[in-house]
Amino acid sequence: MSQPVYPVPAKWAEEALIDNGRYQEMYRASIDDPDAFWRREAKRLDWIKPFTQVKETSFDEADFGIRWFADGTLNLSANCLDRHLAERADTVAILWEPDNPADQERRITYRELHEDVCRFANLLRSRGIGKGDRVTIYLPMVPEAAVAMLACARIGAIHSIVFAGFSPEALAGRIQDCDSRIVLTADEGRRGGKAVPLKANVDVALAHAPGVETVIVLAHTGADVTKVDRRDIDWTSAAGDQSASCEPEEMNAEDPLFILYTSGSTGKPKGVLHTTGGYAVWAAMTHEYVFDYRQGQIYWCAADVGWVTGHTYVVYGPLMNGGTTVMFEGVPNFPDASRFWQVVDKFQVEIFYGAPTALRALMAEGDKWVTRTSRKSLRLLGSVGEPINPEAWEWYYRVVGEGRCPIVDTWWQTETGGAMITPLPGATPLKPGSAAFPMFGVRPLLLDGEGKILEGAAEGSLVIADSWPGQMRSVWGDHERFFQTYFTTYRGYYFSGDGCRRDADGYYWITGRIDDVINVSGHRMGTAEIESALVAHCKVAEAAVVGMPHAVKGQGIYAYVTTNVEVQPDDELKAELIKWVRQEIGPIATPDVIHFTPALPKTRSGKIMRRILRKIAENDTGSLGDTSTLADPQVVDHLLATSPLAE
Ligand code: PRX
Repeated sequence: MSQPVYPVPAKWAEEALIDNGRYQEMYRASIDDPDAFWRREAKRLDWIKPFTQVKETSFDEADFGIRWFADGTLNLSANCLDRHLAERADTVAILWEPDNPADQERRITYRELHEDVCRFANLLRSRGIGKGDRVTIYLPMVPEAAVAMLACARIGAIHSIVFAGFSPEALAGRIQDCDSRIVLTADEGRRGGKAVPLKANVDVALAHAPGVETVIVLAHTGADVTKVDRRDIDWTSAAGDQSASCEPEEMNAEDPLFILYTSGSTGKPKGVLHTTGGYAVWAAMTHEYVFDYRQGQIYWCAADVGWVTGHTYVVYGPLMNGGTTVMFEGVPNFPDASRFWQVVDKFQVEIFYGAPTALRALMAEGDKWVTRTSRKSLRLLGSVGEPINPEAWEWYYRVVGEGRCPIVDTWWQTETGGAMITPLPGATPLKPGSAAFPMFGVRPLLLDGEGKILEGAAEGSLVIADSWPGQMRSVWGDHERFFQTYFTTYRGYYFSGDGCRRDADGYYWITGRIDDVINVSGHRMGTAEIESALVAHCKVAEAAVVGMPHAVKGQGIYAYVTTNVEVQPDDELKAELIKWVRQEIGPIATPDVIHFTPALPKTRSGKIMRRILRKIAENDTGSLGDTSTLADPQVVDHLLATSPLAE
């Protein structure tokens, strides 16, 4: 089958920062002499004390360590704000669009953002928060979320954003894991016309996290919320009392910047730790090159700040580059399925960066919602979070972009800080569904099951052979877990957890997770996490969770559940369990299927045969493979007979 290839449009090849020849040259240089390459790239930042050291990294157990620019000092908030004031104080930094189009948008200039950040940073300091302290942020998509992040960066506090869709239980776990003494929240969030009770959730969470001394509450919707004396303070009035100037803290390049919890194949979500200098260089550089970003352009990354995409490509990348970044509080289909493209027209967005799951949902609504808008301002489209199927890619390209906008399909992870494998719009002929080629300094390899390097066209496990500046530095509170999770599956390499194919032209095609992580609407979920939520229910004896194909979400959640013997598994219990999981983790973990079974298929040594469970969840029951090692093969017959997917 011949694959379509879309050549780089002539205008892009001529005008882009990086054309194909330049990409090749810079990539080579970044691999051949990383120190020289990164010394140059790091000059894009303002350093307080310039670094002399550049790359000091090893993935080997004997001398494991990752340090970049380690003797340099800088402040990231100053890099996002102060240095733009001389020339661009009145440029809009954040263009905020509310959930409801009838409400007023907000335009915040660099001068105003700088002031807000300084006031809020002073407020944090007045509550005893300083360098190294953890600040949990549980906010909707409002400009104050960016203010909070930048204020933390200004005083050297480490922010830990918890997505506002997570439950109080999940929030409590994340507050406790990093011992935050302070939580920043709002009375309510708004999404798709519905209110999200953020402050009430915080109140419930704090019953389990008694170490929190301060809760700063933003009055966003004006809802009536409880106020705990001395602990809860009002954001606007307390920040208003503070001075609008705040000296930025001098941070070492390797001082922590933020923690972001993400799911892995085992155990509780882990706190991915990013540090200051390397992350900043990576975020600024990739944002500029991947989006061919120039000051003055209106840029919109539709991710939530609760995820890493929001950190790097809503806030830090665009602001370091002096850009105008759109922040959107709402959802793609409220009030109707034209919403994204109406916002594009309203703000004359030139670059739009979104997730395949949203595109598939919109595609299902029909083209008319798109074609009734102009979208003439769009020049470039981006995709992130999960593999984009060629059908959705083509729709994005033809209907949304009218065949005129390149698509950058960026592969990366919370752990990588920014884009790792991606086309560059002026350099890369596009193949729908392929993330194309590595970013500067990234050395991807495909390995087989034995860890042998595969050459040429091949499919295997995607590893990265050497460090890049934006790489995570540790798991919060558990450095050993960092090493064990990422560097022991294949010794000496960073293991991504993804499978990947490389075609004869050297293009990379991510095939999805090959560990026990599933990707639901671009949100990462550990199957173990959902299983432990299920078994925490008093009627459940055992549970196994796997991914299932889902037309819109990419993957859905398929849960096999064995109840306690005295319990009658029925539809009522199904509904109860679904509600339970939503409460324990959040709505994003809602199981799509609950399949009751008297037992799970296990080997004689008691190991659950997930391969079989995956096949049944994929409704691919023709080839279950070898079942001879099962302790009780009848379990599989029962599962097949009761499968809700079977015709
Ligand atoms: O499986 C890959 C998928 O998302 C995972 C990382 O998820 P998270 O840490 O939440 O970060 C998402 C935003 C960067 C990866 O292991 N993934 C992300 N981007 C792509 C992708 N899969 C295919 N193509 C992509 N462009």
